[in-house]
Amino acid sequence: SIKKIFDEKIKVNTEVNIYGWVKNKRNSKMGFSFIDVYDGSCVKSLQVIVDSSVKNYFKELLFLTTGCSILVHGILVYSKGTKQKYEVQANKIKVIGWIKNSNKYPISSKKHTLEYLREVSHLRPRTNIFGVIIRIRNCFAHYLRNFLYLNDFAWVPTPIITELNAEGAGNMFYVSTLNSVNSSYYKKNVTDNTKNFFGKKTFLTVSGQLTLETYACAVSKVYTFGPTFRAESSNTTRHLSEFWMCEIEQAFSSLEDIILLAQNILKYTVKKVLDSCFLDIEFLEKNIDNTIIKRLSNFIENKFIEIEYDEAIRILKKFNNHFKEPVIWGMDISTEHERFFLEIYFLQPIIIKNYPKELKAFYMRLNKDEKTVAAMDILVPKMGEIIGGSQREERLKQLDQRLLECQLNIKDYWWYRDIRKYGTVPHSGFGLGFERFLCYITGLNNVKDMIPFPRTVNNSNF
Ligand code: 4AD
Ligand code: MG
Repeated sequence: SIKKIFDEKIKVNTEVNIYGWVKNKRNSKMGFSFIDVYDGSCVKSLQVIVDSSVKNYFKELLFLTTGCSILVHGILVYSKGTKQKYEVQANKIKVIGWIKNSNKYPISSKKHTLEYLREVSHLRPRTNIFGVIIRIRNCFAHYLRNFLYLNDFAWVPTPIITELNAEGAGNMFYVSTLNSVNSSYYKKNVTDNTKNFFGKKTFLTVSGQLTLETYACAVSKVYTFGPTFRAESSNTTRHLSEFWMCEIEQAFSSLEDIILLAQNILKYTVKKVLDSCFLDIEFLEKNIDNTIIKRLSNFIENKFIEIEYDEAIRILKKFNNHFKEPVIWGMDISTEHERFFLEIYFLQPIIIKNYPKELKAFYMRLNKDEKTVAAMDILVPKMGEIIGGSQREERLKQLDQRLLECQLNIKDYWWYRDIRKYGTVPHSGFGLGFERFLCYITGLNNVKDMIPFPRTVNNSNF
């Protein structure tokens, strides 16, 4: 692959076969052409020089356009030009696939906006930027799992089809079955067989946490990592209907323990991405965000700022007239408040903890003041909340009280309550929103560009 060449794993003056796509081509009047070949293994294209002595030069190679797939056979040499270190002198080029109607090809060699590229999700992986994103996503996922493996967390696949709303709020996708699925199924009258199948209504999971807790309270350190579904009606740069979440749960653990763990994980993965995806980061630095290296280095080095919800409200009150509504204790920290903290007041990642219980899910542990719960959110500049977590309510009496207050049916939670009945332990965990954190890492600002095929209101393309 082209990556091997730039990783210096292939010696100069050796013969190489390069499979790839034409990124750009310039014909010189002197009877030779420069072809930039890209294979997506790294962000760089490789310059190939071919001259008219190659037998299909006039018949085929002169007509190559951006996007054509080719096989180049030639010799790797140091480039005489200053723009690149290496180039290939071709002695044979086979055209594998032509571009039909090159003036209609949606991914021409000019720069396209991210908005435009979202309309062609099946072709946008061919651009440099989407190659960069998928490689960084891959690296981040790899080192996230690596950290967890090295620190003795066991991976527990939690169910995608569920009966309960783990967050006790928000809209879920309903799972139904159809009596016949074929290409024209939506034209026929279909019968919903779901009731017959599971015997009850089922939904796509909004979080694997509750079932993950059963394993945490048995094998101590666990995580789940998978797609998560929320029927969010708001079309924002931070919400997807299908996103990936890594949820981590540990037994014999407090709120402070997971605050520390979360920071360690974020710092470790960012450091690995910086080290391993250097060419991709360099590309982002040039084209997207010229502060990326400095920003990520600070992220690794500095301790996050930690504040109590109480303190957050006290600060916001001082700047009361900045905000739409008067600041009062008990209100939620909204996007506008988050932006104030991240972009005006602190200018760095922050952790807000111990929120009023009314703002949070039923499973969070009630604090001694009986007003707040042991919750924490981690917020980063531009994206806002990337992590939500808490210490869980391990006391049966308090849990039942919270289920009641939240108007949830105690019977539905019989198995969750069993965990508290039989050898209960303090435990805590959190969920990391994968696409949101990727936005922070890359410096891009829409989660729709962090997942190959985004699902949002009115959009389920491909
Ligand atoms: O704060 P949330 O709702 O927390 C939970 O689901 C807990 N059960 C996690 C746990 O403690 N195990 O979601 C966690 C994170 C958010 O901080 C956010 O980063 C991300 O998931 N997230 C979304 N990302 C993209 N699109 C959406 N619609 C998201 N909703 C939440
Ligand atoms: Mg949250």
